[in-house]
Amino acid sequence: MSVTFDFTGKTVFVFGGTSGINLGIAEAFAARGALVGVASRSEDKVNAAVARLESLGAKAAGYPLDVRNVEAVRDALKAFHAAHGQIDILISGAAGNFPAPALGMSANAFKSVVDIDLLGTFHVMQSAQPYLRVPGASIINISAPQAWIPMMLQAHVCAAKSGVDMLTRTLAMEWGPMGIRVNSISPGPIDGTEGMKRLAPTPAAVKATVESVPLMRMGAVSEIADAAMFLSSPAAAYVSGVVLPVDGGWSLAGAGTLSMAMVKGQI
Ligand code: NAP
Ligand code: COA
Repeated sequence: MSVTFDFTGKTVFVFGGTSGINLGIAEAFAARGALVGVASRSEDKVNAAVARLESLGAKAAGYPLDVRNVEAVRDALKAFHAAHGQIDILISGAAGNFPAPALGMSANAFKSVVDIDLLGTFHVMQSAQPYLRVPGASIINISAPQAWIPMMLQAHVCAAKSGVDMLTRTLAMEWGPMGIRVNSISPGPIDGTEGMKRLAPTPAAVKATVESVPLMRMGAVSEIADAAMFLSSPAAAYVSGVVLPVDGGWSLAGAGTLSMAMVKGQI
């Protein structure tokens, strides 16, 4: 990537920022001068992420919490604000996923994913608002193609992530007058992540996934981080309420992936 970003003096808070895509986003900001807070359930993962961010030369802070617990989210944001000041960039990326048919999941299974992804994102956004830099703050919610492409075995995720994108659009309207921008990033299949391990657990599933992407490859964590930096940079100062697919064109194919796979050899 040839674009240069500089987040020196900025503060960033990444919910779910201790592994995978969200940690990659946290690392990208940390490597470019930002002070970064991360939060997730596992204290070990939080401590490891803070150590990793510090190894990149950043100041970092970690908060073990569950985004389903609104009090814990509020307490962490209050503590982060007291120690480090206003938040310039807020990322909400905590999520849960497992493949299961609607008839094969309990009400609690469905609720768990909706509570983490959707309610958790509401907790994060509403709790953070008093601590955001206004005007100027950038909020990014990490969505998924399931938000608008129905996918079998993903009823819970489809419902939750479509809710996340509507939160993005609604709060972009409510908070726009304060100078707060709100956007979603919708990653396609990203190589080496927990999400892909769960959704494409076999070599055959990986092959089918790759062949369903117009660019014919999975994405890299760094490519999602690049999009997060763009959306948080002055280059995106007039971008709000957007759901940005970073997916190699995967969402264009959507439910037509099977037909795409069939014709691929012919074009
Ligand atoms: P991941 O490594 O499992 O990341 C999920 C993060 O959220 C972890 O840090 C996890 O840490 C945290 N988390 C989970 N439940 C939580 C809770 N209840 N409270 C607080 N933190 C919680 O997965 P990933 O595959 O990189 O996915 C990251 C994001 O990208 C998710 O929003 C996912 O929906 C989205 N996405 C991923 C892909 C993909 O290809 N992987 C594609 C589209 C969208 P703890 O276990 O410590 O809580
Ligand atoms: N199929 C059907 N139901 C499942 C399931 C599966 N593969 N995995 C979990 N569940 C059900 C559980 O049985 C439980 O329902 P029950 O109480 O009726 O038995 C419910 O989901 C909650 O499971 P539990 O393990 O208690 O929840 P948790 O809060 O500890 O974990 C999850 C949340 C289930 C989302 C877990 O997968 C997780 O922590 N995921 C985070 C990492 C991740 O998913 N990363 C990828 C992001 S794209």
